[in-house]
Amino acid sequence: MTSAIVQQTRGVKRIEFAPGTPETVYERADWPREKLLEFFKNDTFAVIGYGSQGYGQGLNLRDNGLNVIVGVRKDGASWKAAIEDGWVPGKTLFDVNEAIEKGTYVMNLLSDAAQSETWPAIKPLLTKEKTLYFSHGFSPVFKDLTHVDIPKDIDVILVAPKGSGRTVRSLFKEGRGINSSFAVIQDVSGKAEEKAVALGVAIGSGYLYQTTAEREVYSDLYGERGCLMGALQGMFLAQYEILRENGHSPSEAFNETVEEATQSLYPLVGANGMDYMYAACSTTARRGAIDWSSRFKDTLKPVFADLYDSVKTGKETKRSLEYNSQPNYRELYEKELEEINNQEIWQVGKEVRKLRPENQD
Ligand SMILES: NC(=O)c1ccc[n+]([C@@H]2O[C@H](COP(=O)([O-])OP(=O)(O)OC[C@H]3O[C@@H](n4cnc5c(N)ncnc54)[C@H](OP(=O)(O)O)[C@@H]3O)[C@@H](O)[C@H]2O)c1
Repeated sequence: MTSAIVQQTRGVKRIEFAPGTPETVYERADWPREKLLEFFKNDTFAVIGYGSQGYGQGLNLRDNGLNVIVGVRKDGASWKAAIEDGWVPGKTLFDVNEAIEKGTYVMNLLSDAAQSETWPAIKPLLTKEKTLYFSHGFSPVFKDLTHVDIPKDIDVILVAPKGSGRTVRSLFKEGRGINSSFAVIQDVSGKAEEKAVALGVAIGSGYLYQTTAEREVYSDLYGERGCLMGALQGMFLAQYEILRENGHSPSEAFNETVEEATQSLYPLVGANGMDYMYAACSTTARRGAIDWSSRFKDTLKPVFADLYDSVKTGKETKRSLEYNSQPNYRELYEKELEEINNQEIWQVGKEVRKLRPENQD
């Protein structure tokens, strides 16, 4: 099965990634730099927060020749990082409130917990002519928990890059674009979709997939707790522990669980799909993998269903807000990540990595 482009007019493609479900995708070719400069000629982008996304999106906007300022709390880690990247206090670097006042686009790139904490101070500054922008649907979608109740008289848009801000930046510097999803959360001017697509391109997106804020946040929270991160650690650990309990050496258990996966097989899946990876392996491996895959799917599907419910009901958001709002959240994470680092599997990993072909003399 291949995707079919069912319609292409300038600025938009309708693509059937799966038959019967046409989706809207925009591409950066339709927004060359001159068109962006013209469209945004009277605008100032206030990038609020200078973490991973503030850094990547802010610098890309600046390099695209647009009028950008950064707003962060004075003398925090981000303030210093912004100065190092050439943002100048009083000219292009301000505290959060001052930057919001100066911006026509307010790009809320604070951490999700901080967006909720700072909302009572930010909301009154969002006057009628401004456009509010998010890179995650978290704050507006779960407004009962985050209390981010957006004013009714402004456009609100979302562009969510499918990767870290570091990648947003590095792909831009290579002349390529990251893929992002985008959504219109509130369209007061009648131009919110155009603004979202143009700004999506300006921050460094290559293709922009249309979604809603709800679908963006549900799929994102679900995916990172599932295959992208949570399930990955759980699956690796379960397989490793059974090998160790059956007398296999640490290196053998690690090689058969993580090393071969990340170094050989998963990249083949990424490049050419699951069937290609299966075909590249022995018939012995193939027979067993096809047989066991349905057992894993049937066993795991109820867990994924529980996870989706936990996301949709807001349970995951509540947990995240409560945990990440603690004043000592950084130290608490450090402790938990240190515990993961100390697990035998990841200690073994450090040693195995040293023996990789590229690390041999
Ligand atoms: N990271 C990703 O891969 C990614 C991908 C797509 C979308 N997003 C979304 O993009 C948005 C930004 O994420 P991020 O990862 O870039 O955030 P982050 O790295 O966690 O950014 C933290 C920023 O928030 C500021 N901050 C934290 N607590 C604050 C407070 N109480 N008051 C004022 N400022 C505070 C920090 O400033 P200080 O240095 O002063 O603490 C820093 O500038 C989020 O909505 C996120 O979901 C992230």
